[in-house]
Amino acid sequence: MSIDYDPFSLECRIDPYADYARLRKEMPAYWSEASRMFVLARYGDVASILTDPDRFSSDAMAKVLAIGGGREPEPGTPQMPGNIVTCDPPDHTRLRGIVNRAFTPRRVESWRPIIEAETRAAVDRMRMAGSFDVIADLASPVPPTIIAHVLGIGPEHHDAFKRRATILSAAMTGSLRFVDPVESGAAEAGFKQGRHLAGVIAERQAAPQDDIVSELIRAQGEEVLTPEETLGFVGVLTFAGSETTTNLIGNAVRVLIERPDVYERVIEDPSRIEALLEETLRWDTPVQYIFRRAKEDVEIAGTKIPKDGIVTLLIGSANRDTEHWGEDAEEFDLDRNTSGHLGFGLGIHFCIGAALARMEARIALEELLPLLQQSEFEGHPFDMIDSVQFRGVNSLRLRRRERSA
Ligand code: HEM
Repeated sequence: MSIDYDPFSLECRIDPYADYARLRKEMPAYWSEASRMFVLARYGDVASILTDPDRFSSDAMAKVLAIGGGREPEPGTPQMPGNIVTCDPPDHTRLRGIVNRAFTPRRVESWRPIIEAETRAAVDRMRMAGSFDVIADLASPVPPTIIAHVLGIGPEHHDAFKRRATILSAAMTGSLRFVDPVESGAAEAGFKQGRHLAGVIAERQAAPQDDIVSELIRAQGEEVLTPEETLGFVGVLTFAGSETTTNLIGNAVRVLIERPDVYERVIEDPSRIEALLEETLRWDTPVQYIFRRAKEDVEIAGTKIPKDGIVTLLIGSANRDTEHWGEDAEEFDLDRNTSGHLGFGLGIHFCIGAALARMEARIALEELLPLLQQSEFEGHPFDMIDSVQFRGVNSLRLRRRERSA
């Protein structure tokens, strides 16, 4: 038996799930020679590593994404300060404590009106146009606009902010991996985005408000956060919360298109949108895998992983493991108990934006449903985004059946 699986190959973009099933069954801790990493496919192994930061470091997230982006980092390259995703305790504990203060449920709820307004405006334009693309017209532009708002960036700068966030996200997750960072515009976008965000931080420093950036600056005043970390964390938010949410909305709408039975039940009772989104986060999750580095020799699923070995944790596979979810794990089931899905990770790095992403996606689906009822899918093949780590579709084009209001 041989399995030829490379997490960085683009071939499994269309459907990675058959490979995942074989890995879980035959090689749950697989050494990928092509990417020189161990690949872990079972729920139990993935979950136990995510909850064991003492033995598995998140610094692998920075290193491996750079390699995935086609650029081997120079040895000794410093980590970006404030990049909460890539740091371990005690730094992570300190940063997370501050960031938790910034993302309180009350503050997340305060963003509802702007999310509703932006989503309604986008859906109204789609309705008027008659022919529309759920990705290009709604799922792609709204999340970065919301992040811009969350960061206190004025509406006049939203378009430039969105454009740069899109270039940077493509550079980090795959699409630009074989493209020179200068020629692709990623270097310039990164520089301008950094300069812009530094300007926003300086404005809040002069006149604090009741927002996230002001909260971070307060922590700077208490000397628990450095100015570089503030900028780094704000930078992380610009990409962590955009394309991921785009793909959740897109993957959920794709389920509605492909599964008329699910669609009928959601139309019949729109409160099922929540179940639709949670099962999408399990069954076709936007972030397919993340990385950790073993800090000591360990043995997983009978395979020895040496100190400093990199492990790829296949969230997309763990979320379909029959050992955890039962025999029908590969099926999309609106009635499933989805608690424990790993779509937002697990443990100390659990997604800080989960509540925001859920609210954005829920509002998007609520606003879209009436329009979907009046529309039909144009029937094109699903073109997957050019990313090795994220999963989503490039476009979902529909047309209104009749143009009366
Ligand atoms: C559907 C949308 C989203 C998905 C699927 C998603 C997924 C994830 C996953 C899997 C992790 C864990 C990474 C790890 O353990 O290494 C994570 C962490 C994180 N996410 Fe999200 N995310 C989404 C939306 C957002 C949003 C909207 C924001 C911010 C506004 C955000 C900010 C973050 C941050 C800052 C972390 C790092 C937390 C830490 O390291 O303590 N995410 N996300």
